[in-house]
Amino acid sequence: MSVDKAQSWVYAEELIEEDEVIAGARARSEELGVAPVSTGTGAVLRMLAATVGARSVAEIGTGAGVSGLWLLDGMPDDGVLTTIDIEGEYQRAARESFLDFNVRPARTRLISGRALDVVPRLADGAYDLVHVDGDPAEAPEVVEHAIRILRSGGILVVSRALAGDRVADPARRDDVTVTARELIRALRADERLTPALLTAGTGVVAAVKV
Ligand SMILES: C[S@@+](CC[C@H](N)C(=O)[O-])C[C@H]1O[C@@H](n2cnc3c(N)ncnc32)[C@H](O)[C@@H]1O
Repeated sequence: MSVDKAQSWVYAEELIEEDEVIAGARARSEELGVAPVSTGTGAVLRMLAATVGARSVAEIGTGAGVSGLWLLDGMPDDGVLTTIDIEGEYQRAARESFLDFNVRPARTRLISGRALDVVPRLADGAYDLVHVDGDPAEAPEVVEHAIRILRSGGILVVSRALAGDRVADPARRDDVTVTARELIRALRADERLTPALLTAGTGVVAAVKV
């Protein structure tokens, strides 16, 4: 890759400034040892939520709330974010950040639990946008449910799709990389979706459910 390309990616990541509450949640994530989405990925999430006027968003992988804050920022004032995480401590931090961001409690539904126990219980076709950012090993199964719970015209977003920039290197054959590579191929071939791979963060697959 050219030096210019690397510089362009850094430029894109830093182009949109992060709100100070979101920056605070990012610092809290780092203290807790959970990796938030990058600023560039946050900007993509906000833009996609605004594009579909997302009133109903589901997220797998709350962390300390960075991606949730970006999503809420793009959603209309009556939009509700349902966000799932296995770690109660991370969700407590996220809840505080949502309040600091002046989000009414009724706009967030934080569900503590294992993704594959919770997501199968979410209603078919009920969500305008689903963000998948939990355990990468479970992503293929979670994505299948995500497609089921999306309405037609809704958007699937899979963060960290390039598995820390390893997917493009065919020599990398570890389980996480292989799973991520196969997931990208499956999404590309899925006739229910119109997908694109964006280079924000370490890769974001965004796909519209047709
Ligand atoms: C990369 S972090 C999410 C970061 C968050 N989206 C953000 O930007 O702030 C992944 C999250 O998935 C959660 N997680 C891992 N395995 C899980 C599972 N089986 N079910 C639900 N959540 C899980 C972790 O606790 C962690 O908070």
